Amino acid sequence: MKGILITFEGLDGCGKSTQVHRLAERLQQLGYQPIIVREPGATPLSERIRHLLLDASADITPLAEMLLFNAARAQLVDTVLRPALETGSIVLCDRFADSTTAYQGYGRGLPIELVLACNQIATRGLTPTLTFFLDVPVELAFQRHRSSDRMERAGRDFFERVRNGYWEIARRQPERIICIDATRPPEEVHTTIWEHVRQYLPSEASASEGFY
Ligand code: TYD
Repeated sequence: MKGILITFEGLDGCGKSTQVHRLAERLQQLGYQPIIVREPGATPLSERIRHLLLDASADITPLAEMLLFNAARAQLVDTVLRPALETGSIVLCDRFADSTTAYQGYGRGLPIELVLACNQIATRGLTPTLTFFLDVPVELAFQRHRSSDRMERAGRDFFERVRNGYWEIARRQPERIICIDATRPPEEVHTTIWEHVRQYLPSEASASEGFY
């Protein structure tokens, strides 16, 4: 695949969206045209599944929840991500399969191997080039971001398990996942992200040779 897939992970309130937009801005200043997507979402079907998943009144079992996140992902991968990457685009994705491993695997307690196998089916093996895990303590995440959607009504223990899960995922794949202390000011976090991303960008000359 010619393009670059960069994913952002972390607890709700870790500052992912800010960093996705700051990175997009910087890439645009250099003449790239990054594609920005969020999960679950970014296709009509995936947005409908997102609505179901976040509906506070819905009663969804952990297994059904995991399969729904992956159904939304399968549609996104096949209709948006693969076509974009095949034409050489840089894609920035706010959450991807690691979210399912962290939230439904470590958080909800589904067997990790089962979750990884389903993620593999949904992505058909598409793995991010680079993943930023923006780490903040649960306490800070709660202060920064509180809403009452279905996922965020899970208790503090749940989010502690998710956070520890992310550390475990990152420990297993250190070459792909960069852990960043996201309690630091956003501009400092961006600088660290940029230092990594720039290493994956083609030289300026090749921007005109098929990288967008
Ligand atoms: P969202 O409002 O996008 O949260 P955030 O701004 O933190 O990204 O809602 C997505 C919620 O869904 C969030 O609580 C994380 C959760 N989620 C999972 O549990 N599993 C997944 O696979 C994904 C993609 C998200």
